[in-house]
Amino acid sequence: MSELTGHARARYVRRMFGRIAPRYDLLNRLMTAGQDRRWRAEAIRRLDLSEAPRLLDLGAGTGDLCFEALHQRPSARVVALDFTPEMMRWGKGRPAGGRVQWVIGDAAHLPFPAAAFDAVVSGFLLRNVPDLDAVLREESRVARPGARAVSLDTTPPPRSWRLPLLRFHLHTVIPALGRLIAGDSEAYNYLPQSTERFVEAESLAQRMRAAGLEQVGFVRRMLGTVAIHWGTAKDD
Ligand SMILES: C[S@@+](CC[C@H](N)C(=O)[O-])C[C@H]1O[C@@H](n2cnc3c(N)ncnc32)[C@H](O)[C@@H]1O
Repeated sequence: MSELTGHARARYVRRMFGRIAPRYDLLNRLMTAGQDRRWRAEAIRRLDLSEAPRLLDLGAGTGDLCFEALHQRPSARVVALDFTPEMMRWGKGRPAGGRVQWVIGDAAHLPFPAAAFDAVVSGFLLRNVPDLDAVLREESRVARPGARAVSLDTTPPPRSWRLPLLRFHLHTVIPALGRLIAGDSEAYNYLPQSTERFVEAESLAQRMRAAGLEQVGFVRRMLGTVAIHWGTAKDD
């Protein structure tokens, strides 16, 4: 559950993604009515990829962001890192799976030297990690000076007249889809809980700055329930 901390939380998250891996992509499309594809495309555009960039996708799962990057920049050299082998197994089996280098690892302890990448992206990762600041510091460390880091994730919805509607979607529609399609309502109860407990979009921007990124900004999508954050690794 999202109140777990440290290793217990990491273990819980890894087991949960291991269970839902076969249905993960289908459920994403259904829960977002296909909108996640647009946000992914926008997240990759906001990386400002150069020619033949070295790109790291953190918490890559089944590789959606890797494949979008290869679509936008076929010359990209893409490394996908995740700590759930079952998720990456599905990614490897996808049509462009052989064009990605898949690495098993923890986003808070990256097995890469400093400044190894021209861009770093993560999709729906940050709200799952026990130590957010450690992951942001690692992103900042492995990005070369001037490289962009982008995060796409759900975010606590802002207070507005739409809140009851959003809560209904988060707490009723999503767990029902999870139960029907993945046979796992627990995993899809975790999603709304972890979204509502995640730091506000403004605080995430602040934590990115504290981790060493500059020119930090963000936009909200999906009635304010999804945010795309970006920042630039500092020149030393
Ligand atoms: C919601 S999925 C997102 C997958 C993919 N990025 C996407 O956009 O669909 C979150 C992924 O983050 C991975 N993850 C969570 N915590 C992690 C950590 N500390 N280190 C590496 N991967 C992690 C999970 O295994 C899972 O595959």
